Amino acid sequence: MVTERLVLRCWEPGDAPGLKEAVDSSLDDLRPWMPWAEDEPESLEQKVELLRGFRGRFDLDQDYVYGVFTAGGEDVVGGSGLHTRHGSDALEIGYWIRSNQAGKGFATELTAALTRAAFELCEVDRVEIRTDPANERSRTVPSKVGYEEEATLRRRLHHPEPRDVVIYSMFRDRLAGTAAADARFEAYDVLGERMWPR
Ligand SMILES: CC(C)(COP(=O)(O)OP(=O)(O)OC[C@H]1O[C@@H](n2cnc3c(N)ncnc32)[C@H](O)[C@@H]1OP(=O)(O)O)[C@@H](O)C(=O)NCCC(=O)NCCS
Repeated sequence: MVTERLVLRCWEPGDAPGLKEAVDSSLDDLRPWMPWAEDEPESLEQKVELLRGFRGRFDLDQDYVYGVFTAGGEDVVGGSGLHTRHGSDALEIGYWIRSNQAGKGFATELTAALTRAAFELCEVDRVEIRTDPANERSRTVPSKVGYEEEATLRRRLHHPEPRDVVIYSMFRDRLAGTAAADARFEAYDVLGERMWPR
């Protein structure tokens, strides 16, 4: 997927050095909010194995974890995903942006594009974003894209101590009129044929 300023694609094992550098240089911002950051820093070999797993599950249509890159596709900006864990009618978007690229609207840009793609290409009925209620910076992203705050689940995330989780959701019939409805992007299939815009 290509947005105004970003390229989103399945991670390749060869992206391991770029991912490691992006994560290692962002640990102060990632550790408070991303449970996986507890195990960082990982070795390069661990990153290769991680990315092989991401690519394998992507190719088998089990889960879609994306690397987020600069427009030329070379530099890692962060990570995202369309996660399948809420059943066939829904997808959950996750995101992180490396520290030295934060505050430029990248999380908002990719979330708007993935939201529109989830509804118009994947044809799901609901998209969710889950975050810690204390993560003010993350909470602004779904709000700006047009999501509604739906619920707060108490003590539902273990990180390692119990944390609350706030769920933002958007339904397909509420897409019109949101910032996501206006998101501009190009999407390509595995053969490089353009799927969007149709
Ligand atoms: C949260 C995160 C994804 C945001 O990415 P980003 O690309 O900087 O986000 P954007 O620039 O699109 O939007 C951030 C918004 O938060 C606002 N913001 C920044 N710091 C803030 C703060 N301390 N409190 C409230 N809002 C804040 C910005 O002003 C911006 O809103 P604006 O565009 O209306 O000015 C990124 O900082 C990150 O990866 N953090 C660490 C990991 C994380 O928390 N991931 C999310 C887990 S759910």
